[in-house]
Amino acid sequence: MDIDVARLSPDRMYKLLVNTVMPRPIALVSTLDRDGRANAAPFSFFNVFSNAPPLLVIGIEGNRRDAKPHKDTARNIIDSGEFVVNLVSREITERMVVCAVDFPEEVSEFEEAGFTPRPSRKIAAPGIAQSPAGFECRLFDVRSLPHNRSLITGEIVHMYVRDDLIDEKMHVNVDGLDLVGRMHGTGWYTTTRDRFQVDRMTVAAWKARKG
Ligand SMILES: Cc1cc2nc3c(=O)[nH]c(=O)nc-3n(C[C@H](O)[C@H](O)[C@H](O)COP(=O)(O)O)c2cc1C
Repeated sequence: MDIDVARLSPDRMYKLLVNTVMPRPIALVSTLDRDGRANAAPFSFFNVFSNAPPLLVIGIEGNRRDAKPHKDTARNIIDSGEFVVNLVSREITERMVVCAVDFPEEVSEFEEAGFTPRPSRKIAAPGIAQSPAGFECRLFDVRSLPHNRSLITGEIVHMYVRDDLIDEKMHVNVDGLDLVGRMHGTGWYTTTRDRFQVDRMTVAAWKARKG
């Protein structure tokens, strides 16, 4: 089927995107509001885009909860210019979903989900102690899109990996991270346990293989 996206409603486009682009990594983003209250929410319109400078991007839609244009996360990032991306392991997946409940802004997702703030090194916003790895970010760029959407680019200024998951040579224990990705529909996730390896080839190796 060919699909003319110009004729699709935003909701239909959303469904097609999230049911085709998967798995998507999940950024559990922690921020501080103007009164210093910690906020946490998951975002799967997320990925890394550059290692030098180290940049990651998050797409945040408008606030459907009340008349305000931005979700708490987008507002806090724009106000404070900083945020932490906490990666999501299988162990904390259910608690990550609690952070997506549409709580009023005065409710702390940290408390509701039972997460412990982990002090950051370079920014004021705390990370999440139960997350196996995280990135402290400063706002690099924000693009305001139609429908109150925001395309947030963050520059990673500090990185955290739990001590037992990385060695002195900076080899990360990916099995130990046990990260999850978001799949199709509303509540489907996948682990990163089912893996296979396909080595890249030099031109010479490719020619030798073709014979
Ligand atoms: C796994 C997962 C991924 C999500 N990804 C996004 C996303 O990419 N963009 C978005 O705007 N909302 C996304 N949401 C919904 C937000 O997490 C939700 O609206 C949350 O309440 C926002 O909280 P805040 O107002 O504290 O920022 C996602 C929810 C879940 C459970």
